[in-house]
Amino acid sequence: MSFEVLWSSIVDGSREALRVVREYAHTTPLGYSVTLSRMSGCRVYLKYENLQKTGSFKVRGALYKVYTLKGRVPGVVTASAGNHAQGVAYAASTFNMRSIVVMPETASISKVEATQGYGAEVVLYGRVYDDAYVKALEIARERGYEFIHAFDDPHVIAGQATIAWELLEQLEDFDLILVPVGGGGLISGVASVLKRVKPGVRVVGVEPEAAPKMRESLKAGRPVVVEPKPTVADGLVAKKPGDITFQVTSNLVDDIVTVEEEDIAEAIYVLLERKKTLVEGAGAVGVAALISGKLRVEGKRVVALLSGGNIDLTILNKIILRGLSKAGKLARVTCHIPDYPGQLKRALEVIARHRGNILDITHDRSDPQTPPWHAKVTIVFETPNVNTTKKIIEELEREGFKPQT
Ligand SMILES: Cc1ncc(COP(=O)(O)O)c(C=O)c1O
Repeated sequence: MSFEVLWSSIVDGSREALRVVREYAHTTPLGYSVTLSRMSGCRVYLKYENLQKTGSFKVRGALYKVYTLKGRVPGVVTASAGNHAQGVAYAASTFNMRSIVVMPETASISKVEATQGYGAEVVLYGRVYDDAYVKALEIARERGYEFIHAFDDPHVIAGQATIAWELLEQLEDFDLILVPVGGGGLISGVASVLKRVKPGVRVVGVEPEAAPKMRESLKAGRPVVVEPKPTVADGLVAKKPGDITFQVTSNLVDDIVTVEEEDIAEAIYVLLERKKTLVEGAGAVGVAALISGKLRVEGKRVVALLSGGNIDLTILNKIILRGLSKAGKLARVTCHIPDYPGQLKRALEVIARHRGNILDITHDRSDPQTPPWHAKVTIVFETPNVNTTKKIIEELEREGFKPQT
């Protein structure tokens, strides 16, 4: 299929998909962010797709794909341990179809339960995604079910493209949009509509540096495999872009940038603290690109697509603690305290005087590195700000406790 024909089929499909998505999913809000605009020197608008049904934009593509299959196949099957699984499960239930989702045995219980909760039968198979994928194809063959690819499918892409139609109604003019890139379905949809309707808008994809498959594929001129490293943006881990998504991206997308794990974590924290909105790593990469200062966006109107909000709570906990300690609101200090009565109390009084609130404390007398007749004490405490933390540490130093952070 020529690129022009493919492009037109996505844009035409997306108009029909918009009717389906309007009926069965949410039109997500768009909001201006004063804080992020100040932090990044441009005018930042956020598209809150983390508030979408099932917690991510994936339901859009799934709804449209399942809609096109209604009455034609007995059921649908997919392989996914992420947002696509929940999207397909929800879409199939919406149209009274059976769905099977194959997940690797390592999938978290919460993801299995969420997918079952939306009405899918979950089959746990193999250790990694590739095993689950092979199993899903086998089930499709055996049962006559349709396999739904997570990104490399024109209907799925047309469904994701509905975000762009919504955006065009919500914001008359903007210069640039930042779109998270996994396998490339989302950016292919968004770019197809925007480049048809507003070709002057720059469409920029964002990948974690830990999984830069689209960047590397564009360099190579064809989809190539890049082994991903662990990343907090787990939704963007794909080994290779699809053939279709590569074709669309290489023709329509202006640029791909990558972001570091530190910046993704910071973006999640800032969105939570300042915007009171919970975004998963994959959904936060656009904001990460903005706050990393890597983009040249001064004075521009920039839309960041917050593509999902399904974050594991243990990861979220780590990100909050990390954010608090970076902001100087949480400190971990190790002191050497003389091992006789009243000394620990003296150290704690220093913290209390500055209104520090102790969260955790360990007292170790057996540490071989600690001088004789001393105990190694590690104290974790909250403080109002970084200056107070500094004052506490200085005072502990003056009192002879040799604090280390
Ligand atoms: C929250 C979130 N954002 C972005 C993406 C990337 O989408 P695509 O694979 O279509 O590029 C995913 C993929 O699962 C996702 O879950």
